[in-house]
Parts: sequence; C-alpha cells; structure tokens
Amino acid sequence: MNNRAVVLSIGNLNLDIYVKTDVIPRPDESVDAYEAYMGGGGSAANFAVAVARLGIKSRFLGSVGNDQLGEMLIRELESEGVDTRFIKRLSHERTGTVIVIVGLDGSKRMIRYAGANLGLTPDDITKDVIDGVSHVHVALGRTEIIEAAKRIAKPMGLSISVDGGTPLARKGLDVIKDVVDGVDVWFMNSFEARELGHSDNVVKAAENIVSRVRVRELIITLGPRGALLFRDGEVKYSDAFKVSPVDTTGAGDTFAAAYIVATLLDLDPMDKLVFANAVASLKVARKGARSSPRMREVLDFLESLGYTKLVREIRDRLSNAMEKLI
Ligand code: RIB
Repeated sequence: MNNRAVVLSIGNLNLDIYVKTDVIPRPDESVDAYEAYMGGGGSAANFAVAVARLGIKSRFLGSVGNDQLGEMLIRELESEGVDTRFIKRLSHERTGTVIVIVGLDGSKRMIRYAGANLGLTPDDITKDVIDGVSHVHVALGRTEIIEAAKRIAKPMGLSISVDGGTPLARKGLDVIKDVVDGVDVWFMNSFEARELGHSDNVVKAAENIVSRVRVRELIITLGPRGALLFRDGEVKYSDAFKVSPVDTTGAGDTFAAAYIVATLLDLDPMDKLVFANAVASLKVARKGARSSPRMREVLDFLESLGYTKLVREIRDRLSNAMEKLI
C-alpha cells in the first residue's frame, strides 16, 4: 500500500440527536425515551472518521453553517485526525441536524434537516481539495456532485466510490446510469438495489443494474445478513458477524470506509468483504454513527474468531507508519 494514501470523503456533516424508544408518538402524544445522546454525523463525515480510525489519512469536504455547532463538529473531526481545511462555512445557513429514532433492536429512523449541507457545489471540488488524494468517496445522492468528483478525479488516475443512498436510488437507473458509469465501487443497501434493479430478488436486481452500468465493483449491504459483491460477472457473499445490535446508525458508512481501506491494502475481494463486515459489526454493537473501531480492535476481533491468516496478511500490508498504530 502507498504509505501516503489519503482518502477524500465528500458529503454531509451533521449533528445527530438520538432517542432510543420502542414507540413513535402520535400527534399530541408524548412518550418516554429509554436513552438520549448526540454526536457528529453525516454519512461522508462518518466515513471520514472510520477511515482515520483504521489508520489511513482522511480528508473531508462538506459544508456547515458559520455557527457554534458547525465549529464544534469541525473540531470533533479534527480531534479524529481528519483534514478539515476545505470545509465550507456558510453564514446564511444552519448546520445540518438529524433526529435519529433508534429502536430497541438497534434499527434507525431519521428525520433530516439538510441546511448548510446543500451549500456544497460542484465548484467546491477543486484541484487543491484533490491534491495528494488517492481515493475519492462521494456519500451523496446529488448527481452534480458525483459528476464533478468524477470529472476531476478520473483524469488524475484516482479511484472513486459512491454511496448515494436512497436519494440517488429514487432517481432511477435511466437518470443515474451515466452519472455512476466508470465509478470503481458503488455501495448501496438491499432496499436501494431492489428499487434500482426492479426486482424483489436482490441478486436479480443487482444483475439488472450491472448489465446497464459500468462499475468495477457493486456492493450491496444486507444489514445483519452481511454483504454481496458483484465484480467481473461473479457474485461473492460474506455473512455479517453476529453481535447484539445497539445502534445501526452509520453502519453502512463504516462498512464502506472499511471496504475502501481494505481495497487500498490490496486484499482479495472475499477478504475485503470479511474485513468490512467485521468493522461494521463492531460499530453496530455501539451507540452512535461515529463509534467505528480502530484497526487494532478489528484485528483483535478477527484474530479471536480464528481469521489468523487474514490478520497476518493485513499486518504485512500495513505501512511502517500504520504498524505503529496497531
Ligand atoms: O448514515 C448515517 C448518517 O445519515 C447519520 O449520521 C445522519 O447524520 C445521516 O446523514
């Protein structure tokens, strides 16, 4: 692996406010929550933190309000070692905020106020932002941002991944096929795959998608059932690790981050899935979107489950600088 690999993540930075409950109140009704907590969120920012915790240099591009909340969220990213120099501060918008309703089974429902996140424009993805970067991840469903990232990153020989979530999937394949064409890794969940691939069968849906779009790898995350990889006309599957789910918020972001780190480590496709499932499973057992594990914890976890060869391979491929971290 390139010692100086830097991963750039583009997209949202939010404050997440969580309540844990088993009832959704009706109008005029109030219910008690079992727990309330808050922390930094936003898919792209969660991805950036997860990358940094796995020991890879991480940069984030997004937009916040020029307010205390924005400053606090930027400082939080800095404390994780994420490069925040290019984050925009908008004086006329408030920092994005999300209410996350977490079920007792760890499931999540979110109510989003996008606010300043919408102030990010294609022109913000400049050569300076990309300078020194090896991989670009766009965690946004905004086609103009994905296109701009591709336009700048591809001619520079950088790899690019996209996790556009439901907003991208809802646009339909006819609209987005040219937008994601040529992307290296495209992440989606099974709901989004079914929407885009027009089939209730996830494998069939994925086959429909890859027959119309040229992406090197299509990853479909299946929650507690692991993940599927479609690549070179083949399907690979790896189950999730069994943990007691506490909060699934950010699990997809964490999975994507781990998969890209594993790609930078040049692991083989099946090992990339196993590694990403392990990292995501560890996150699901903890509260909040930013509770992804550090590399050392992941390796200990895999080792405890008998993945000795994979752990040895990861250790071998880590740079000297990273070895100090684990
Ligand atoms: O993917 C999880 C994230 O989605 C949360 O952190 C929340 O901020 C929303 O953007």
